[in-house]
Amino acid sequence: KLQAVLFDLDGVITDTAEYHYLAWKQMAEQIGIEIDRAFNEQLKGISRMESLERILVHGRKDGQYSMEQRRQLAADKNKHYVSLLAGLAPEHVYPGIVELLGQLAEHHVPAVLTSASKNAPQILESLGLADRFYAIVDPDGIPGKPAPDIFLKGAELAGADPRYCIGIEDAQAGIEAIKAARMFAVGIGKPELLGASGADIVYDSTVKLSLTSLLQAVKQD
Ligand code: G6P
Ligand code: MG
Repeated sequence: KLQAVLFDLDGVITDTAEYHYLAWKQMAEQIGIEIDRAFNEQLKGISRMESLERILVHGRKDGQYSMEQRRQLAADKNKHYVSLLAGLAPEHVYPGIVELLGQLAEHHVPAVLTSASKNAPQILESLGLADRFYAIVDPDGIPGKPAPDIFLKGAELAGADPRYCIGIEDAQAGIEAIKAARMFAVGIGKPELLGASGADIVYDSTVKLSLTSLLQAVKQD
C-alpha cells in the first residue's frame, strides 16, 4: 500500500531548475569559469554551497576564494536566482502536478516536499501550492542528496514506511538519494541519465504522472 509520495521541487513541480542553471552560469562567468548543461546535471539536487564548491573545482579555482568570498558568491547567485522567481505564478506549475496532488489527497496519501532548496516555501507560495503538501522537509542541517536523509525525514514526517513510499526526482543525486532510502524512484527527464542513477521508471514529462500510473509502475517492479 502506498503510504506517501515525496516530491522534489526544482525540475519536478516547476521549471526553476532552469533558473538555478542560468544564475549559476552567470556567477561562474563573472569569475572566469565556463559551465554547460552537461556539467549542470551534477549541480541538480545539490545545496547552494556544495554547488559553488563543485563549480570552483570544475574551474580549478578551488583554493582561490576565502570562506567569506564564497559566501558572497553564493549570496550573489541567490539574489539573481530570487529575482528570476519574481514572475512565478500558478500557471507555471508543470502539467499533471496539480491533478496528481488532487488524486493523492482524495486517497489520503500524504504528499511531502523533499527539496534541498531554502527558497522552496516561497516558491510553493508563488505557485499556489503551499497548502497542498502535508509537510515540507527543512533541508537545514540534514545531509544533502545523494544521502537518503531528506527522503527518510519526509517519510518520517508522514508517518510512512520508506518501503511504501515513492520519490519523484529530476536529479541524478536525487534518484540516488531515493534509492539509498529504499524507496521506489520515479525520474523526470532523460532515461539514460536517471536510469543510470537507479531510477525504477523514468518519464520524459510530468504529464505522465498520475496516481494510476504510479501504482501501475510500482506493481510491475
Ligand atoms: C535544489 C536544486 C539545486 C539548488 C538547491 C539549493 O536541490 O536542485 O539546483 O542549488 O536546491 O537551492 P537554494 O534555493 O537553497 O539555493
Ligand atoms: Mg530537482
